[in-house]
Amino acid sequence: MSVNDGSALFAARLNEIATATERLLEQLLGFDPMSRERARPRRLVEAMRYACLGGGKRFRPFLVVESAALFAVSRDRALMAAAALECVHCYSLVHDDMPAMDNDDLRRGRPTVHKAFDEATAILVGDSLLTFAFDILSRAETHPDSGIRIALVKALARGAGLGGMAGGQMLDLAAEGRFATAPPRLGLADVEELQAMKTGALLRFACVAGAILGAADADRRAALDRFGAAIGEAFQIADDLLDVEGDAATVGKATHKDAEAHKATTVAIMGVASARERLHALVAQAEAALGPFGTDAAMLKAAARFVAERRA
Ligand code: IPE
Ligand code: IPE
Ligand code: MG
Ligand code: MG
Ligand code: MG
Repeated sequence: MSVNDGSALFAARLNEIATATERLLEQLLGFDPMSRERARPRRLVEAMRYACLGGGKRFRPFLVVESAALFAVSRDRALMAAAALECVHCYSLVHDDMPAMDNDDLRRGRPTVHKAFDEATAILVGDSLLTFAFDILSRAETHPDSGIRIALVKALARGAGLGGMAGGQMLDLAAEGRFATAPPRLGLADVEELQAMKTGALLRFACVAGAILGAADADRRAALDRFGAAIGEAFQIADDLLDVEGDAATVGKATHKDAEAHKATTVAIMGVASARERLHALVAQAEAALGPFGTDAAMLKAAARFVAERRA
């Protein structure tokens, strides 16, 4: 199979999983209350739907579904875990864009949630999406075995919280120097840790979720964990390169902002050319981590290459 065939197959699969994720999120984020909910305030549901539907690459759902497929997990179960993760991801974007954080007006080619609605609503969208993710994971449709559901809850909580995404966002803001008189001097290892947390942790969860759903043995779970860590780091380097080299019309969000905001990025520390080299090395590392799965992991290998090649 030529490389082109591989990327065409990947694009088709990403599109298929994005459509299925969209359909499920649209159903989960309905206007009617569920049992033990009193009511779903219309404005909040509308803003949550605005944050979650009609955009995004759905790369994390793709990783959940494809890593789960290695263990023959049913698509319906994998999509539930994927939808939960996408809720956390979308919440992270809503809050990341708010004036107190990165102060962005454009996301996925549209006004950010606090622009389309208002700041208070955007805060509550985040609160509600984060909570909703765990609601989704707790349901029997995600997995009939409650032990597996708890393992998913724990892994997502660790990836999203204090020692994961939210903690990484704290380090990202601190690195700008906004909590000190001068920006702290960060080395490459500090930036790698910050990025592994703010972005890597959720991507890593995406890959490990498949292993959890499939009750994988320790070796296979560790292999997916290594894969997730490598593409997690690669993903943020690619995002930082897009900030420097991309344009808002293609990327769907403002570009050329990180340097001025004193963001701690690999690009800022080592320059564009070395950051790109590091990106390619991480993609190779990610592909190598999939060794134990042989040709079954072709889609995940294509996903690693996509991380480096993406233009949006
Ligand atoms: C953007 O994530 C935020 C980062 C972690 C770099 P994505 O590039 O996956 O954004 P969407 O979901 O496709 O919009
Ligand atoms: C975002 O990093 C990481 C998140 C946890 C949302 P960025 O701040 O670089 O993401 P973009 O560029 O706004 O999507
Ligand atoms: Mg940010
Ligand atoms: Mg941002
Ligand atoms: Mg960015």
